[in-house]
Amino acid sequence: MWKRMRAVAVGALLVLGLAACGGQGAGGGGGAGSGGAPQDMLVGVAMPTQTSERWIADGNAVRDQLSAAGYRVDLQFANDDIPTQSQQIDQMITQGADVLIVAAIDGTALSGQLQAAKAANIPVIAYDRLIRETPDVDFYVTFDNFQVGVAQARALLTGLGLQKADGTPGAEKGPFVVELFAGSLDDNNAFYFYDGAMSVLRPLIDAGTLRVRSGQTGIEQIATLRWAQETAQKRMEDLLTGSYSDGTRVDGVLSPYDGISRGVITALQNAGYGSAARPLPVVTGQDAEIASVKMIADGQQSSTIFKDTRELAKQAVAASTAFLQGRTPEANDTTTYDNGVKVVPSHLLPVQTVFRADITPKLVDTGYYTAEDVARGRQG
Ligand code: GAL
Repeated sequence: MWKRMRAVAVGALLVLGLAACGGQGAGGGGGAGSGGAPQDMLVGVAMPTQTSERWIADGNAVRDQLSAAGYRVDLQFANDDIPTQSQQIDQMITQGADVLIVAAIDGTALSGQLQAAKAANIPVIAYDRLIRETPDVDFYVTFDNFQVGVAQARALLTGLGLQKADGTPGAEKGPFVVELFAGSLDDNNAFYFYDGAMSVLRPLIDAGTLRVRSGQTGIEQIATLRWAQETAQKRMEDLLTGSYSDGTRVDGVLSPYDGISRGVITALQNAGYGSAARPLPVVTGQDAEIASVKMIADGQQSSTIFKDTRELAKQAVAASTAFLQGRTPEANDTTTYDNGVKVVPSHLLPVQTVFRADITPKLVDTGYYTAEDVARGRQG
């Protein structure tokens, strides 16, 4: 009810604002496709948080590429707080944004804002995370999220020696003891990562090759609210106390995101893992965050999934430019991403798995990080 009232209020504000400007938004564009010069166009970019390094990289890449194309940019981070993100988007709309690029914190919490955007003829591009339960999202730029999950599960199998990197059988036969982690249930991606990973792992769990000692395999049981490192650390600690106090060793952990991996590894180290007698388990990840890349270089984390934020930013900018010029952005997937109301036309990018030997060719030689960044575990 409150959401609806707020939406109506924002809508009313917009109508007033538009009338006052004689049909033009404060950005001068009055919505997309009005054919103004780039410097008269404002693009609102709403990112979820600065606590995760990947979103800073995304925000900066989108801002820099839009600025280089001549557009004005309003880049905001919301501290993983839903009301803050809603407010930031409200403000972008009232400031006359011509396009919105949004990486949502909660994929279902923005309907009111997007309704107001639609009323003001502002196209909305969902960035990396699908915005759900609204007709008012126009395009989606992301990676192949199901394949991310598949790649994470395969990386776990490769790390354990059950499979070679090319997918052929490895030297080990198992059984191995593993635990599973998933992302935040308010993020659509968490389900794609989980489904992709389980498509690979479920048969091995059923066959007894992989044993989940806690018995926790359902996504609700293994989820991590807001993908928070501390929450993952706490769950790993609880798992170790609850299911491993008899001295059984954890051989592998499926982790869907580097922040979660770092929490898991900290819990394991605090419990005595990381020595020659008790090595750390194989831990997967995602995002190639620099702190985790260093841990991969140091042999603490086994792998990550590299999603090149420069490429995602490029797609977001291409889609924005298309809308601003009155064109339709080019989708390469028009069937997968049903947001509950409609299938959102999407542009999906491929992902790459990174083990220790891949750091130099995939991350350093491509200019994503310098060798010094990797050695330091932070950029700059
Ligand atoms: C997901 C995203 C992942 C990871 C995670 C936590 O939506 O696809 O790459 O960044 O959020 O931030």
